[in-house]
Amino acid sequence: MGQRARMLATVLMGLLCLGLLGRDEVSLPADGDAALPAGEKYVALTFDDGPKRGTTDRLLDGLKQKRATATFFLIGQQIAQAPDLVLRMEEEGHQIGNHTWSHQRLDSVTPEEALCEIRQTEEALTALLGEQTGPHWLRPPYGQVPLEAEAGVPMVKWSVDPRDWESRDVKKVTQAVLECAEPNSIILFHDIYSTSVDAALAVVDALQKEGYWFVTVEELLRINGVIPQAGTLYRTGNG
Ligand code: NI
Repeated sequence: MGQRARMLATVLMGLLCLGLLGRDEVSLPADGDAALPAGEKYVALTFDDGPKRGTTDRLLDGLKQKRATATFFLIGQQIAQAPDLVLRMEEEGHQIGNHTWSHQRLDSVTPEEALCEIRQTEEALTALLGEQTGPHWLRPPYGQVPLEAEAGVPMVKWSVDPRDWESRDVKKVTQAVLECAEPNSIILFHDIYSTSVDAALAVVDALQKEGYWFVTVEELLRINGVIPQAGTLYRTGNG
């Protein structure tokens, strides 16, 4: 074996040992160097009803420290109160979604009003973050979806709901999530409550110890080979 061939063999053996060959890898858009290997356990944390100063910023600090990413479904009329936090979400690799302009139940208004609720928030988001970031995915308030064909974007529900808005109890909320979470779960929180921020960060700690990775909803679908379709409602990472 020549020197070059020996060197090549050594490099190949090294890559095999590191597990870098033969794995189906998905690139992470927030960081071109990182990868999301198949065969790992992934979940998506989602946060509704923000942004809110005092809670959302504390959550962003915690997620950054723990190297976890999440998805934020924002209420359009609140964006102007904390545009810096929305910019920070984008910069730190989180996914940003639309939760309507004024948290309307989309099955209780006319189709025109519903579209207006969605469009106003989309316009606020693209004005702040740039056209290239849109269109942003939709989480319809209360999970009520009357306009599947007209939403124009993929829609996201959830598979784990600890009802954090109801109990506002860190331990109860944390426990409710840990009891139900499994690979590909989409977990619902509201980052407007301090208790929910504490619970979400405790969930990150506990599930990271079990080998879970925290990714955005978009990444979770991609890892599962799901191609997001406009008008379709996704409840878990595999559909
Ligand atoms: Ni909501």
